[in-house]
Amino acid sequence: MADLSVSYMGLKLGNPLIVSSSSLTNTVAKVKRCEEAGAGAVVLKSLFEEQIEAQTEEIEEESWPYPHPEAFDYVRQMGMRLGQEDYLKLISDAKKAVSIPVIASLNCITPKWWSNYAGEIARAGADAIELNIAILPADPTHSGEEIERTYKRIIEGIRRRVEIPVAAKIGPYFTALPKFARELSAAGASALVLFNRFYQMDIDIEKLALVPGYHLSSPDEIYLPLRWIAILSAQLGCDIAASTGVHDGAGLIKQLLAGARAVQVCSNLYQKGMDRIAVMLKDLGDWMDRHGYASIPEFNGKMCMEASDKPEYYERLQYIKVFVGLE
Ligand SMILES: Cc1cc2nc3c(=O)[nH]c(=O)nc-3n(C[C@H](O)[C@H](O)[C@H](O)COP(=O)(O)O)c2cc1C
Repeated sequence: MADLSVSYMGLKLGNPLIVSSSSLTNTVAKVKRCEEAGAGAVVLKSLFEEQIEAQTEEIEEESWPYPHPEAFDYVRQMGMRLGQEDYLKLISDAKKAVSIPVIASLNCITPKWWSNYAGEIARAGADAIELNIAILPADPTHSGEEIERTYKRIIEGIRRRVEIPVAAKIGPYFTALPKFARELSAAGASALVLFNRFYQMDIDIEKLALVPGYHLSSPDEIYLPLRWIAILSAQLGCDIAASTGVHDGAGLIKQLLAGARAVQVCSNLYQKGMDRIAVMLKDLGDWMDRHGYASIPEFNGKMCMEASDKPEYYERLQYIKVFVGLE
């Protein structure tokens, strides 16, 4: 029987499958269900910066330059109206209820809110904090550098306040991801979660109204994080967790081969239920047995760019028949 245990940002996980931050993890009962289903850890539903803003009634001015009004609707749709105190209670009750690691999640847009609150989250017993940092660079007067600096300041601010591991969950839209990823690690991130899949907006062409886009991923969305994890995993001073597009055991195995220390799953569990966790873990164990691996570190990162004698294949972006068989 293969040993599925892993170490992710210093936390010991019985297996690498983490239930992502979502409404699958927004109550103690659901967190218990994740553990019963076999998850190695959970990331709690994010507490949104807008929720704190709304609660403290200090809106607008201070949140410049990244106001995010549509998030109020998003929060409402997701049925997430937890305030700060409720969130601390969710953490401490979840910790009492399960023995798997419980990672709290904060949605951050500006550096200002979180430093104090992060300390309370650590005191409530969270094993780690995942920062769901999401800044849409819609303002043409803001440079990429300015926006990247905001990410780093958020991490540095929280890092100063807590000793528990801090992961940064980011989207894929950065010009020079390897340099930026290193900077996030240097700012104090214990892990990067690659990548968040953001809420999408759509247009109702009859009502001429904005509506939410379809919110679940498909299995072919694994390719973008897979490439970047394979490129980055041996380059960073911190761990990586995969997120987006893992819908089966093969996806889980691919991300471990690319170098992810842990793999987060969300959409597939919404679509097919929590029993999918056991199926994916069985597929992982069977594959390890078939390939003669007794533990995950024996193959973790084996297919990363650094380990390859053809690193240029990881950088290939164009369809050229002679190289990729397609044109
Ligand atoms: C309904 C729903 C709610 C989500 N809420 C959050 C959230 O609160 N915080 C967060 O960091 N990510 C959130 N996500 C993103 C997921 O954690 C995950 O990163 C994304 O769905 C990609 O993984 P997947 O392809 O396995 O679904 C949410 C996703 C969905 C579908």
